[in-house]
Amino acid sequence: MTDIAKPIGDGALAALDARRSVPARQLAEPAPDDAALLRLLRSAVRVPDHGKRVPFRFLRVRGAARDALGERVAAIGRRLRPDAGQAAFDKDRQRFSHAPLVLVVVAVLDPADAAIPEQERLMTAGCVCFALLQAAQALGYGGSWLTGWPAFDREVMDALRLGPDERIAGFVHLGTPRIEAPERERPDPAALLREWSPDGA
Ligand SMILES: Cc1cc2nc3c(=O)[nH]c(=O)nc-3n(C[C@H](O)[C@H](O)[C@H](O)COP(=O)(O)O)c2cc1C
Repeated sequence: MTDIAKPIGDGALAALDARRSVPARQLAEPAPDDAALLRLLRSAVRVPDHGKRVPFRFLRVRGAARDALGERVAAIGRRLRPDAGQAAFDKDRQRFSHAPLVLVVVAVLDPADAAIPEQERLMTAGCVCFALLQAAQALGYGGSWLTGWPAFDREVMDALRLGPDERIAGFVHLGTPRIEAPERERPDPAALLREWSPDGA
């Protein structure tokens, strides 16, 4: 049996089964340091990747840069929705300031790679976000994969200096959980599974 074919055992499933998000407000210092972050990324980049295009990259936002990004996003939000009110403005200002570290997972959708459907490349970047959460939890950190309107706004992408063919797959907020994150009801896999048969029976 090759190494790859050997069952890893219950531990791997236990880790998958234990995954849950920690709200960004409940993430505190310490954030993963350089070494821990690179360790997380080493696992996170092992995603299925049609054509091996590596359609993703990362931006690290930490310290004062989090507040500065929030200020810029809030200013963009105010221009787009001048009537949204002070609470919306404050929410945007603080968006990136709760967790000590925000990783922007950037989907790199080079038109030259059109042989691989864009949806597939985007899904690969999404898998990276998921794997990051999983890896963070394995190392004792917590995380949340968030988007919100800023993830889809071109001006925000410009503020992050994304290229014209890049998108935001997610803002992955990382830190050390202050609390045990609340569990939520999970889907019943049996209810989601159907047998397909050629005659539709
Ligand atoms: C692509 C994507 C974007 C998300 N964006 C947000 C968001 O902006 N705000 C939010 O409250 N939850 C968002 N979520 C959901 C949370 O990441 C999280 O999955 C949810 O709170 C449920 O927690 P769980 O991960 O423990 O199941 C998003 C999830 C995905 C997959």
